[in-house]
Amino acid sequence: RLSGHEDAKRVAAYQAVDDHIKNNTAVGIGSGSTVIYAVDRLAEKINKEHLKIVCVATSFQSRQLILNHKLTLGDLETHPDLSCVIDGADEVDDKLLLIKGGGGCLTQEKIVASCTSNVIIIADHTKLSKHLGDNYKRGIPIEVIPLSYVPVIHKIETMLGGKAPVRMAKSKAGPVVTDNGNFILDWQFPPDIQSQQSWEAINSKLIHIPGVVETGLFINMVSHVYFGMPDGTFLHKD
Ligand code: A5P
Repeated sequence: RLSGHEDAKRVAAYQAVDDHIKNNTAVGIGSGSTVIYAVDRLAEKINKEHLKIVCVATSFQSRQLILNHKLTLGDLETHPDLSCVIDGADEVDDKLLLIKGGGGCLTQEKIVASCTSNVIIIADHTKLSKHLGDNYKRGIPIEVIPLSYVPVIHKIETMLGGKAPVRMAKSKAGPVVTDNGNFILDWQFPPDIQSQQSWEAINSKLIHIPGVVETGLFINMVSHVYFGMPDGTFLHKD
């Protein structure tokens, strides 16, 4: 028997696939533990209905998922226009702003998300919050070029406040290295920052620091969110 959270992830993932996958399309496949259920369902649907779907990965994990299910792997070079992208999130606020990058794949996820007008987020109900940071306590992930990490930390902390430690690996003595060979900072922003400036303004300040590759703030990028609820139903927001 699955735990409540796993049930909730599965319900959200299955519903998103059932509502949005169309034959003869290319779709983006996100990263994380919830996306695993979406790829299970996608493989089931492709096999049962004999669909032709090309899958574009957002990480090493996502690529492995596609290959392990024997789905057709494509990339943005051959498929720059995607009919939809199905991905998880670390937090979703009531305006459908997201924090992503808990798994360190934010840059590829944002690039792939930018290649469709239909970004679909799947999550269990614990990811839903009123304000960003209410539930997800690790901070906003920021991918940085390794040689810049100390200056970037100083600039974030003096310009915006809070703390932005480099994410350390659990099974290695040293930092987490992304699929792109970069480091991740987890910016624990000051709690009152949202009353002073918009996330758009904050994001543009972060993005303009030399050495920052991308942030885990996803602003106005999402079309649909499916939350799996504790009672086995789903909540759809768009
Ligand atoms: C990966 O970098 C993240 O953006 C994931 O999409 C996010 O961590 C969601 O993962 P779960 O589905 O495991 O919560």
